[in-house]
Formats: sequence, C-alpha cells, structure tokens
Amino acid sequence: MEEGKIPKHIAIIMDGNGRWAKKQGLARGYGHREGMKPVRRAVEFCRNKGISCLTVFAFSTENWKRPASEVNIIMGILREYLYSETPELNANGVKVRFIGDISVLPQECREAIYYSEKITEKNDSLTLNIACNYGGRADILRAVKTLAAKAVQGDIEPEELTEDDVSAELYTSGCPDPDMIIRTGAEKRISNFLIWQGAYSELYFTDKLWPDITEDDLEEAVQWYSERQRRYGGLK
Ligand code: FPP
Repeated sequence: MEEGKIPKHIAIIMDGNGRWAKKQGLARGYGHREGMKPVRRAVEFCRNKGISCLTVFAFSTENWKRPASEVNIIMGILREYLYSETPELNANGVKVRFIGDISVLPQECREAIYYSEKITEKNDSLTLNIACNYGGRADILRAVKTLAAKAVQGDIEPEELTEDDVSAELYTSGCPDPDMIIRTGAEKRISNFLIWQGAYSELYFTDKLWPDITEDDLEEAVQWYSERQRRYGGLK
C-alpha cells in the first residue's frame, strides 16, 4: 500500500448484532456479546497498522428507546469488556477514552469506565474512543454551550471563533478527524455519529454483520480507502 494512504483515524458504526443473533436462532444479547470479538480484532488491526485513533459506536443517545433488558445487556457487556480487556489494552499502550455523556450510565458501568480510563490515560500507541450515550448533535451542542459560556465570561471573542475552536471542544479533541467511517450491517446512514468530525470522511459500507467482521474485512476497507482520492472540495 502506498505510504501516506493509511488512515490515521478509523471510526466504526458496529451494526448488525441483533440480526447476527437472530440468524443463529439466539436472543439479541448474544449478538452484542459476540460483538466484543471484532472490537478486539479492530484494536489489534489498528495497532498493527500504526493507526493512531479508533472510534467505535457502542451506544447512541437514541438507543435508550430499546427495551430496558437489552440496554442492561449492552451495559453489562461494556463493563465486562473493560474489566477483561483493560490489562491487555494497557500492556499494549492503548488509551481508552469514552466519548458521550456517561454521567447517566449505571454506576457499575461508570466505575468500569473510570478504572479503564485511569489506568490507560498515559498511553499513546492507539486511542480507543468508545462512543457511549453519544450523539453527534449533542456533541456539537455541548461544544457550543462551552464556547458560549466562555464568550459570556469575556474569555473569547465570538467573531474570532474558528472551526478548530469548535473541534477542540468536541469529545474527540486530540484525535484528528476520522479519515474513514465504516458502517457494517448493510444500512447506509450516518446515524448522528461524528457529524462534525466526519464532514470529509470517506464512507465505507459493508453488508456484513458486525460479529462477522474479520481482520481481512478491515484490511479490505483500508485497501479501499487507500484507493480513494480525497479532494476536500478542491480539484485533483
Ligand atoms: C448495533 O447492532 C449494535 C449496538 C447498538 C451495540 C454495540 C455494542 C457492542 C458491539 C458490544 C461491544 C462493544 C464494545 C465497545 C466492547 P443492532 O443491535 O442495532 O443490530 P441489528 O441492526 O441487527 O438489530
């Protein structure tokens, strides 16, 4: 692959867990549980490729509409993932960071998040952003509120605000914008994921369901990315 064509930041909408479970004749929760495996594969993949940021969409602000039993299963899986994977993630230099409003998550889940974020906070080989109770509009609104408060305080001049100032207040600050957003599970929507940060992202859709995603699938996605020509609205 041509040098420079490896993305620095990959973001993934992990869709299809429920359908995967149904295909096996299992309850939806089994699909979410199986969904932990490709998260591991994606982390490994990014580490091997030298990709510096991986953002995965684990739970959206809209996912609260699901039955409480399913919400609880997903929260339990996140917690289990954090306790079982953090030692290895830490040993491999991965920094775990949650993006989204975690203040309303169940206490046990928040404890697992603090544990993982704290242990891994100084790592810098790969940042794993786990989007949980995340919504792109809520992300932008939060940034706007912070900037508005600074303006009221007289710390910034509204006229002088730049796009970088907004980016710096988003949950993803410190990571470059995603070069590529992957969505599995055959739907072709962005679903309120990284809508500011993804303004120029290459969008990659695959019909494969998230639990079925392998390292080869990720390799194929990155290969596809390497063949895209990014023009950012300009000419070749
Ligand atoms: C979408 O599939 C998936 C989710 C809402 C949950 C994602 C959670 C995981 C993959 C668990 C592991 C995550 C981490 C970070 C350890 P869906 O339920 O909408 O599938 P469907 O469209 O087939 O119903």
